[in-house]
Amino acid sequence: MDPLSPPEESAFDPMREPMAVAAQLPPPVRRIAVEGAPTVAQPPPGGNGHVAGTAVAPPLKRMPRADTAPVERMRTEALSIAYGQKLAVNQVSLSVRQGEVLALIGPSGCGKTTLLRSLNRLVDLTPAATRGGRILLDGEDVDLFDVTQLRRRVGMLFQQPNPFPMSIFDNVAYGLRERGSKKPSKRELEPAVVGALQRAGLFDEVKDNLDHPALALSGGQQQRLCIARSLAIQPEVLLLDEPCSALDPISTQTIEETIVSLRTEIAIVIVTHNLQQAQRVADHVAFMYLGDLIEYGEAERVFGSPVAERTREYVSGGFG
Ligand SMILES: Nc1ncnc2c1ncn2[C@@H]1O[C@H](COP(=O)(O)OP(=O)(O)OP(=O)(O)O)[C@@H](O)[C@H]1O
Ligand SMILES: [Mg+2]
Repeated sequence: MDPLSPPEESAFDPMREPMAVAAQLPPPVRRIAVEGAPTVAQPPPGGNGHVAGTAVAPPLKRMPRADTAPVERMRTEALSIAYGQKLAVNQVSLSVRQGEVLALIGPSGCGKTTLLRSLNRLVDLTPAATRGGRILLDGEDVDLFDVTQLRRRVGMLFQQPNPFPMSIFDNVAYGLRERGSKKPSKRELEPAVVGALQRAGLFDEVKDNLDHPALALSGGQQQRLCIARSLAIQPEVLLLDEPCSALDPISTQTIEETIVSLRTEIAIVIVTHNLQQAQRVADHVAFMYLGDLIEYGEAERVFGSPVAERTREYVSGGFG
């Protein structure tokens, strides 16, 4: 089992596609114990805090910019993807650069996940999917790569964390053990495992429990473990599909900091419905609507003064 290769759709494995399981099961009930009466916050003036008509997102504290110049790693050229007759992505051209985070935003069903999954050819696993246009990694067509190699270079993280049912150490070491014919010893693997956990911002929390089961970690820790598992095999591009949507605000903040700290060494694309998150972490933003790329540009510009009316409506919370 390769941590970066999802199952064939015919050989469904819930460890690999937890979103599919989530779709079949009712969501877990969360109980929150409240010790005292809650503080009631006053709503901001004007309902959502925006003045109607100005319709741009309020300024938010952004994470600092990377101090290295961005380098283009991936590019889509007139990329179109259809499921049978239904067009999900329509003639999209954009760049994915190392040194910055690209956020894909847009309402549900507009093609964000489809576009993301095409970048490491996961979408090819859907029998009904057809693809037109080109996807390039370092200038080379991704169709010319061995698909396993491509998915090692272009890793992906899903909405629900999906650690394997083994120890924390073994999760991170998994991809390292799988590559090459000679299996490395635990001692040989340790520096890489520790390094990946540190880069994922998890090491300090688990350093004394590396042999504990990964499934005993909290949701936010599990997601950072999955980031560490991806990082251990040194991807060059990391695709994140709503990685924080199942997490609490503290875990979300930790993961956002991890994402931002990784972008100088890895090109990162994140799909998010959380516009504030996109404002906090993204350097570039692509706004999609019904498969079309409506607007693409620097995050501050897209949020501060969007050109297209649809973007303006979306970033101001007008629809979504
Ligand atoms: N496996 C599939 N088979 C058929 N149609 C699909 C498949 N996956 C996605 N679609 C359709 O393609 C379109 C784009 O879906 P996609 O999942 O890419 O949207 P999205 O922007 O990620 O939405 P969300 O924000 O809800 O995750 C939708 O109309 C969806 O119904
Ligand atoms: Mg999606």
